[in-house]
Amino acid sequence: MTKKIIIANWKMNPQTADEALRFVQGILAQRLPKNIELIIAPPFVYLDLLKKNCGKKIKLAAQNISWAERGAYTGEISGLMLKNLGCDYVIIGHSERRHIMGETEEIINLKLKAALKVGLTVILAIGEKEQNDDILKILSQQIKSALEGVNVSEISHLIIAYEPVWAIGTGLADTSDNALSAALLIRKIISRLYGQEWASDLPILYGGSVSENNAADFIAQNGINGALVGGASLELQSFIKIIKAAEKNE
Ligand code: 13P
Repeated sequence: MTKKIIIANWKMNPQTADEALRFVQGILAQRLPKNIELIIAPPFVYLDLLKKNCGKKIKLAAQNISWAERGAYTGEISGLMLKNLGCDYVIIGHSERRHIMGETEEIINLKLKAALKVGLTVILAIGEKEQNDDILKILSQQIKSALEGVNVSEISHLIIAYEPVWAIGTGLADTSDNALSAALLIRKIISRLYGQEWASDLPILYGGSVSENNAADFIAQNGINGALVGGASLELQSFIKIIKAAEKNE
């Protein structure tokens, strides 16, 4: 597996469709490296606009999904709606949804299964809250509960993003060595659950204060398959530099 995956998580930004469109046009004006899968996760309201303007070079991820299939769930967006819009991925388990919106592990598990059912690839975000937390215990717990009832044939539609909560939006990124250790731990946990073969194929990303200055360190690690970028993915020039950092691994 040589393709590196770079995901822009725009969170609740930008505030206008014009800005979203200009950003994407700015990226498309670049010569993009061939060895990357470039994914943008915009707010729901821009998905359709971006789908019509991204061509095949940029894939789209939703930032959330309903666990319900259809029906009387005011304010919710179903997996099938996302799929029909041309979305290929969905982020589930992001720390902001866990800790600000109060999503429980049970809800994350239901959402993950709803996404897999309609053929979306899940970007499952996991990570410890504090720097001195027991990461083996926390990551095992988060992975096991998120994947409860998910069988081995569905695992090929999974990406895991290791995002230590203390590193998100703080400017304090983890070191690439620590991120690699966490990725190895995640592979070990997946290997115990689903077998070695699936574990070695699983894409594992790092997220948390990834910037134009540190992206290359994470992306260059063999055991890390790319980056999930928040703040720096809203700055066109910074994000282009992050994308180009992946090119150096070509
Ligand atoms: P920052 O890159 O702003 O730290 O955000 C990371 C993140 O939450 C991506 O999902």
